[in-house]
Amino acid sequence: MNPAERLQSLRTELAHHNRQYYTLDAPEVSDATYDALMNELLALEAEHPELVTPDSPSQRVGGAVLEKFSKVTHRQQMLSLGNVFDEAEFVEFDDRVRKSLGLEAVTYTCEPKMDGLAIELVFEHGKFVQGSTRGDGTIGEDVTQNLKTIKNLTLTLEGKALPKLLEVRGEVFIKSKDFKRMNEELLERGEEAFVNPRNSAAGSLRQLDSKITASRPLSVYLYEVGVVEGKTFASHQEKLDYLEKIGLPVNPRRSVVKGLEGVMKEYQSLLADRHALPYEIDGLVVKVDSTDARNRLGQVSKTPRWAIAFKFPPEEMEAHVDEIVVQVGRTGAITPVANLRPVFVGGVTVSRATLHNEQELRRKDVRIGDWVFVRRAGDVIPEIVKVITAKRTGQEKEFVFPTECPICQSPVKKERSRSSGTLDKPGPEHSEDLGQGGATRKTEEDGAIARCTGKHCPAKLAGRLRHFATRTAMDIDGLGDKLCEAMVETGLVKTVVGLYGLDLAQLSRLERMGEKSAKNLLEAIERSKQTTLRRFIYALGIPEVGEATGKALADHFRAVQPLMDASIEALQGVKDVGPEMARAIHGYFEDADNRAMVEALLAAGVKPEPPEAPAAGGTFTGKTVVITGTLTMPREQAKEEIERRGGKVSGSVSRKTDFLLAGDEAGSKLAKAKELGVKVLTEAEFTALLR
Ligand code: IVH
Repeated sequence: MNPAERLQSLRTELAHHNRQYYTLDAPEVSDATYDALMNELLALEAEHPELVTPDSPSQRVGGAVLEKFSKVTHRQQMLSLGNVFDEAEFVEFDDRVRKSLGLEAVTYTCEPKMDGLAIELVFEHGKFVQGSTRGDGTIGEDVTQNLKTIKNLTLTLEGKALPKLLEVRGEVFIKSKDFKRMNEELLERGEEAFVNPRNSAAGSLRQLDSKITASRPLSVYLYEVGVVEGKTFASHQEKLDYLEKIGLPVNPRRSVVKGLEGVMKEYQSLLADRHALPYEIDGLVVKVDSTDARNRLGQVSKTPRWAIAFKFPPEEMEAHVDEIVVQVGRTGAITPVANLRPVFVGGVTVSRATLHNEQELRRKDVRIGDWVFVRRAGDVIPEIVKVITAKRTGQEKEFVFPTECPICQSPVKKERSRSSGTLDKPGPEHSEDLGQGGATRKTEEDGAIARCTGKHCPAKLAGRLRHFATRTAMDIDGLGDKLCEAMVETGLVKTVVGLYGLDLAQLSRLERMGEKSAKNLLEAIERSKQTTLRRFIYALGIPEVGEATGKALADHFRAVQPLMDASIEALQGVKDVGPEMARAIHGYFEDADNRAMVEALLAAGVKPEPPEAPAAGGTFTGKTVVITGTLTMPREQAKEEIERRGGKVSGSVSRKTDFLLAGDEAGSKLAKAKELGVKVLTEAEFTALLR
């Protein structure tokens, strides 16, 4: 084989493995084998620079820095989509289409509306020759070099008799988890983070230095064609299937549906899956499937009559910061919160957003009177993404962080965080209407955190009560924020132990407390006495101890007394407990008040059940399991199910691994497992085993 032939064969082979890995998530060779092929290609090309082709995988690493992008005139205009925002508007669209076509029910293709940047790729005889942005639809920018760095994009199409000319169109985007990781890396390097995946995709693709683009985790999905010579398609589905067949990345989430009813079903289904998808979407694109019907419908100005974007409720909105206040949590942590003029975002009305801590407030430079972007995606806490500085009038006021606790007037002390990034999610630090649990998003990481130093601060006590009662702790139904505050304010309860001494008369005297709710609450308090050790430990609100650590401590010590008496060394012997956490737990139980409180709770009748011993003949007894990819069941639950059946969950695949539980989007761990011959379980197989 001469060098030209060898290079051709290497390119084909590498393109194939690239597609197996990035597009199909089904690698056939190890990373090492791939690297060896790539190195051989690089070495051969270095020897024979005249043989380097534009579609060579070596061209993916980025090249020369451009002065500016050259312009590209699209052979065929790149259209944009009209929008509809609700069912009634979609019905109008469907009516128009049906009338024009004279049909009872139209066959549509439904696809997620990717939130990224529209691009066009030109392939000649199966080779990628040019790529451009949409621009104004007529003229875009030549981003060929940058597009070549996108890993899930093949530069050489597969198959025989490929069209002479094939223009494909699609969306460049960043997957949510890649976006998160990329922003963390940018922040670590002291650079500015991107506001959302869409901006970061656009910003990364429009880099004059393609090496920067190469370092960004971009992906692409193709969903349309422009000019095609040497191939026709009778329907949109046929087109997408073809694109997929010749090796282009096409979103697997697509469906052909019949009429209004079919579209509405898919709309609801996609909306429900929205946050489970690995990328951000802002709606459903509905396209008439038949090519012939499309041609008959035509277009009006820049939008086709045969397609529409059926938008989802927005997750990001502009809002006005009316005021900034602070909340005092159960550990005394002082959290700034912005009170907003109410906006409808992420499907609910939001009137406040956490600012996490003083550093975050300063970093984002949020001022009273500012206009900001508020984001609420899924069940997460509403958050201020960015100030809209263009809307500043000069009347905005900086917030002065208090030096004393607004509740008990004790001095506020800034202390360095005890740890950074524990695996645990500490319970809600403040008002539950800011969201459930997990409220501390790296709160304490970038340095000092302000805390109230008052030992008897009512806000702390109310927070502790609330935490004690929370669903994943003692689960006292009906004991919410307001009630906790009222109990503290009226002096009804001085510590959590006080809950177990309450009577109906006392409770009924509280404002807005009917006899019925008082009765229910007393029952819930009584019920909470029968609890598990892990819940009880978590409920105590020991610094650093979240639900996962609560469980680890319960599994290890199996009773309250040994935990209270454990040395720092013994605590460090517990799974996932590091030196700092061990010191924090030890410190908590050294405090005589805390010990007395625990003893009083037990004396009041609280009975924390020790964990069941793992079954001897469990499905996973003695087996090591690694979990990877996205599962529909929470990972923590999968882990518990395995542990309950005698298995161990480990983080990395090795020869000692017995099973790999692989969810969607599994990557390198799956490849490794296959290489080592580790048994791979799909989630369906796993749930079957559990049964
Ligand atoms: S089709 C004429 N399909 O939405 C049809 N567009 O305003 C051309 N988009 O510029 C677009 N996902 O950036 C189509 N599955 C999808 C899409 C999609 C996202 C974007 C695209 C386009 C904009 C329409």
